Amino acid sequence: MLRLNENHLGARVTSDEVSRASGAHSDVLARCQAGEERHAGSLGWLHVDDWASDERLDRIEELAGRLREAADTFALIGVGGSNNAARAALCALGARDGSLDGTHRVVYAGNTLSAFELRRVLEDLEGRNVVIDCVAKNFETLEPGSSFRLLRQWLVGRYGPEGAARRIVCCGTPGSHLDDLCHEHGYEFTTFPEPVGGRYTALTEVHLLPMAFAGVDVRALVAGARSEEALLRDRTADPADNPAWRYALVRRLAWDAGLRVELLSFFEPRFRWFSKWYEQLFGESEGKDGLGLFPASAEYSEELHSLGQYVQDGTHQLMETFLDVMEPGPLDSLVLGGSDIDDRFGYLDGCDFWEINKASFTASRAAHARTLPCPTIELDRVDEEHLGRLFYFFMFSCYLSAELLGVNPFDQPGVEAYKQLMFRTLGR
Ligand code: PA5
Repeated sequence: MLRLNENHLGARVTSDEVSRASGAHSDVLARCQAGEERHAGSLGWLHVDDWASDERLDRIEELAGRLREAADTFALIGVGGSNNAARAALCALGARDGSLDGTHRVVYAGNTLSAFELRRVLEDLEGRNVVIDCVAKNFETLEPGSSFRLLRQWLVGRYGPEGAARRIVCCGTPGSHLDDLCHEHGYEFTTFPEPVGGRYTALTEVHLLPMAFAGVDVRALVAGARSEEALLRDRTADPADNPAWRYALVRRLAWDAGLRVELLSFFEPRFRWFSKWYEQLFGESEGKDGLGLFPASAEYSEELHSLGQYVQDGTHQLMETFLDVMEPGPLDSLVLGGSDIDDRFGYLDGCDFWEINKASFTASRAAHARTLPCPTIELDRVDEEHLGRLFYFFMFSCYLSAELLGVNPFDQPGVEAYKQLMFRTLGR
């Protein structure tokens, strides 16, 4: 399960205020639970089954199985919403060097224009048995477009034109130029859901395919998301008990109290890429019209020794949302033995790092809550089910939060504007 712990909100945003605001704005929750007509073209993610039905999962698993037989390395070419969620899930589930099982590996391209990084990607492919997946909703974005060409040419050099064609999958909009290319050259084509913007595609084949290639149990992940959807969209339940709604209200009340940054903080570095996914989701969805909390993240305990000082004592513009895992998994225990050298850490003899890490968490949350609101999102475990829940929880919260703020969560006019300037510079 996933819960919102409000015990450390402090004085600037209180649980009572959240409950009062819940009553005052409950129409917003009801509208979002139903899915607003004006956003119909962007709400394909709201009902998980629309793009992750059992039949679709069958097809995704079948394709992933074929690709796993054909290759040991899956180059995921995509940027922003087109690669962050898969990367977030793999990192959270413990992937090392992009691999969960030590045999099949995902490498990331299409998210940079740096020659240095792209050379590294090509180096990473050497000696491996490779398939590439180009994920591009409109196939105009520079990073995936240029990386696709680079890796396609590498594949042709390695396997010849026909061999390469059998190793190329593209995920795009039906009828797009990418779709045409696939038909013309015999690449496998998969559907990027039209009514789902990139940053809301975590629970669609855009991400489920690379996850399945890596060996993630995508059925469990989708089952977790479906359960979360059932809870959060239950219109018969009391709105004041809806954790996504309360979290969105905390964010709105924090904004009203003059706070301008939300830090997503966590004590498990395995959430590093999840935090990038979160930053993109909220940043692109809410940061417009001069509004929106700036989404940032902090990886503790390391950054307690850098950002932590600012968080506690710097300009009072922050709220801090903690992500906390309640139950240790099989690899989450490591006992520190006693020492025959007097290193003055004797008080740690026999302690488990799980407990030491928790002590650091509870102490820093208590200290930070003296000056800033610190809601905590608690999840029982880190597994596929809970990741599915987390993805859905944050996407639905983001929709609610943007609606409370009065911005359109599904467009990104600023991004479009910079792209036009860049295209002009490059002579497109
Ligand atoms: O969420 C979004 O809409 C963006 O972050 C896109 O995912 C990102 O720009 C990639 O777009 P595309 O898949 O069209 O290349």
